[in-house]
Amino acid sequence: MDVHADPLPALRARTSEKWSAYPPDVLPLFVAETDYPLDPTVARAIIDRVEASDTGYVHGAGPLPAAFAGYAERTWGWRPDQAGIRTTTDVSVAIVETLRQATRPGDRVVITPPVYPPFADLVAEARTERVDVPLVDRDGTPALDLDGLERAFAAGARAMVLCHPHNPVGVVHPAEDLRRLAAIARAHDVVVVSDEIHGPLVQRPEDFTPFLAASDDAREVGVCVTAASKGWNLAGTKCALMVGQSERAVALLDAMPEEVGFRTSILGLHASTAAFTSGDAYVAGVRAAVDVNRRLLADLLAEHLPGVRYRMPDATYLAWLDFRDAGWGDDPARRALEAKVALVPGHTFGAEGRGHARLNLACSPEVLTEAIHRLARA
Ligand SMILES: Cc1ncc(COP(=O)(O)O)c(C=O)c1O
Repeated sequence: MDVHADPLPALRARTSEKWSAYPPDVLPLFVAETDYPLDPTVARAIIDRVEASDTGYVHGAGPLPAAFAGYAERTWGWRPDQAGIRTTTDVSVAIVETLRQATRPGDRVVITPPVYPPFADLVAEARTERVDVPLVDRDGTPALDLDGLERAFAAGARAMVLCHPHNPVGVVHPAEDLRRLAAIARAHDVVVVSDEIHGPLVQRPEDFTPFLAASDDAREVGVCVTAASKGWNLAGTKCALMVGQSERAVALLDAMPEEVGFRTSILGLHASTAAFTSGDAYVAGVRAAVDVNRRLLADLLAEHLPGVRYRMPDATYLAWLDFRDAGWGDDPARRALEAKVALVPGHTFGAEGRGHARLNLACSPEVLTEAIHRLARA
């Protein structure tokens, strides 16, 4: 399915964060929302529930576990057992609630900066202590520091939040890394919460191994948290999945208060079910639109901002831009905003992100081109 960004006047009429936070002369390429129109079947699912005045509480996870299991099997050859799938409000809540069950207050939880900024807040919300094991450079590609992770686990960390695929650097962790991570996690009795919210946005879906499908160890130690909210732009409909596929992982999910499931939105549940049931063509169209822009960005930077380094993301619609050789200082997003382009400041992803900024590629090629022209003029 061809997917194209909505025109700017329609986008400016949206009330979401992306289109409300800045005045209209700013191009908002910051928060992770897309400028694409909804998948028509997903929109229909929401409208049908509204027209039926079916806006009460959810009754369990309903048809969503089967829909997700079907999607995961078609896309990645992994069919999770539906009995181990629960729902909640959003992926952030899923992470906090899983950490609450997997740890005790004061326990250490590992994250891998530069990484999605709220991870640090979610670890604190679960009353645990954050331990940073930054990504390392492996032949030009950011990668997990498996030796560093092993040291952190051996030193007593109880859990880890894995970002897979990784926001902001756009890498898909290789299956071999996942297997090694799972083995060391199991050896040290560490729970791995694998945030796979960007999983449907891997450019070559065959390159993605869901963590729980990586090995027996991974199934044992892992809880996958995911949603349709990035691929199908449904963050506002409030629904996420938590997947456990071992006795131990399912026990963690079952130990959560019943309220965690009740906080799922019924609209989100039906929208996500439609996305995972009949949204393959739409999300393939989103990937194709992002593919055009991730390549266009490389050309635009080479022509207009050759000092900015950029590795094309293999997944997500996010571009991680390294301005350090371009002389833009520690916070290039500040200067970008003066040029009327809103990016996410790199330092919010961890100290490793200084001199970087994150740009959202899920816009039209015209908006992306205009944004880079504005930055070049700055
Ligand atoms: C890696 C990652 N996890 C979680 C979220 C937030 O998800 P939710 O809105 O479901 O809490 C995002 C949003 O961009 C994200 O990039």
